[in-house]
Amino acid sequence: MDKQQLALIVPAAGTGERLGEEVPKPYLKLAGKTILEHTLSRFQEISGLGEVIVSTSDPYIQQTKTLLEKLFPEQVTHVVKGGKERQNSIRNALEKISGKTGLIAVHDAVRPFVEPDDIETCITEASRWGGAVLAIPSRDTIKIAGKNNEITRTPDRKSLWQAQTPQVFWAALLREAYDYAEKYNFLGSDDSSLVEKVGGKIVLVEGTERNFKITYPFDLEVAGYLLKQEKK
Ligand code: CTP
Ligand code: MG
Repeated sequence: MDKQQLALIVPAAGTGERLGEEVPKPYLKLAGKTILEHTLSRFQEISGLGEVIVSTSDPYIQQTKTLLEKLFPEQVTHVVKGGKERQNSIRNALEKISGKTGLIAVHDAVRPFVEPDDIETCITEASRWGGAVLAIPSRDTIKIAGKNNEITRTPDRKSLWQAQTPQVFWAALLREAYDYAEKYNFLGSDDSSLVEKVGGKIVLVEGTERNFKITYPFDLEVAGYLLKQEKK
């Protein structure tokens, strides 16, 4: 089977409320580059990549266009406006993807440590099954809480995974899932949850903790440390 053309969508339009910095997370600089640049550079050598679309907020559109032209001279690139929620930001990016694209990968702008080998594995698995999500087995026991933080249930840890990105899907399946979510007003916290609603088959690909999402101040400290180590 020929390798299908891949499009990459990177949502970068969030405000970074939990981090609490003035500048939105993807545009903070670490080791001389923005976090967005560190993240996108992990995709530069990915085979079959034909298009890259980044969703961002108004003040960062021009800067993001310039960055994409520098990093992806061979690919078609677009910058689109983000929406209120991550899901809306991805929806806007989906509109730009050409009909030639067979697979779509979604990757958070704020996961700069993703391994290219793991990206490739997700692509291979998604092309075979319909969807693939990079994830790690839950390290902690997860509790379901009810009112007043009272524990109502403890699911078996062995079947719990923490979903990361990239999440890769057949393009037609991801479009169908986004259309369905829009029609039924479903808001999910990742892309897979939308595809699950339309019955897509999605497999987990085991990754590593290194692919953490910069969310809290502690994560930013760790990211700064790791990038300095890499530079040495
Ligand atoms: N994102 C987006 N559009 C939104 C919200 C989030 O494109 N309306 C992007 C973020 O920029 C980030 C990714 O989705 O790259 C993952 O989201 P998250 O880590 O939650 O980032 P924020 O929403 O910015 O952070 P917070 O939830 O703490 O406000
Ligand atoms: Mg958020």
